[in-house]
Amino acid sequence: MIVEWQKSAAEYAVCYVESGMVVGLGSGSTAAFAVRRIGQLLRTGRLQRIRGVPTSRAVEALAREQGIPLTTLERDPAIDVTIDGADEVDPHLNLIKGRGGALLYEKIAAWSSRREIIVVDESKLVQKLGTRAPVPVEVVPCARAVVALALSELGGEPALRERDGAAAPTDEGNLILDCRFDGIDDPSGLDRAISAIPGVVEHGLFLGLASMVVVAGREGVRVLHARGCRMGAGGDATDAW
Ligand code: A5P
Repeated sequence: MIVEWQKSAAEYAVCYVESGMVVGLGSGSTAAFAVRRIGQLLRTGRLQRIRGVPTSRAVEALAREQGIPLTTLERDPAIDVTIDGADEVDPHLNLIKGRGGALLYEKIAAWSSRREIIVVDESKLVQKLGTRAPVPVEVVPCARAVVALALSELGGEPALRERDGAAAPTDEGNLILDCRFDGIDDPSGLDRAISAIPGVVEHGLFLGLASMVVVAGREGVRVLHARGCRMGAGGDATDAW
């Protein structure tokens, strides 16, 4: 069921993609449905002259397989629309992202996008960030222990992300500390505090970056819009849960 919801949300979001646009291609299983849909629309000619900005090596491979022409932020630093997934969405449309490890590129793409569309199934909606998902914190390898200690002092429980029994490097060769907070009362304060730790490259709190969230669930697809924001993002959802 969740997979069908992911597909519905992602395919709905592709309605906001128009021919000629620079499109940010988000990472993760939900965003992958949007990439496949864009590929399909390009093949049938219903979309033309799209240039995709992949946010990870994995989505780059998928986009190539789908025949989506690619570009880079170096060539196209202003993205028209990005479609990406999330691990948690709160009623202000603030997010936790990065379970797939692509948070650094995803945040740069979100910040560079005129419109950031987040696609989720309803299991990702939370009243408070940090309730279920940890906050991934990307660190340079030499600062791992220093940052872990600092995150503990902020009240978190950091754990090194591993794959096959070894540290799992990001696309940029950094490490990730998945940090549990058991509910975050002050996301902006935590955002500033984590960003201020030397050795932190980026973290998975995405505050005020989503323009809209497409949620699919038991009752179909609904769209939550952000109010009063930088280029359309960062306020209360007009239709909170
Ligand atoms: C990738 O690093 C992540 O930010 C994903 O977008 C996020 O974890 C959502 O992934 P799923 O759509 O696979 O749940």
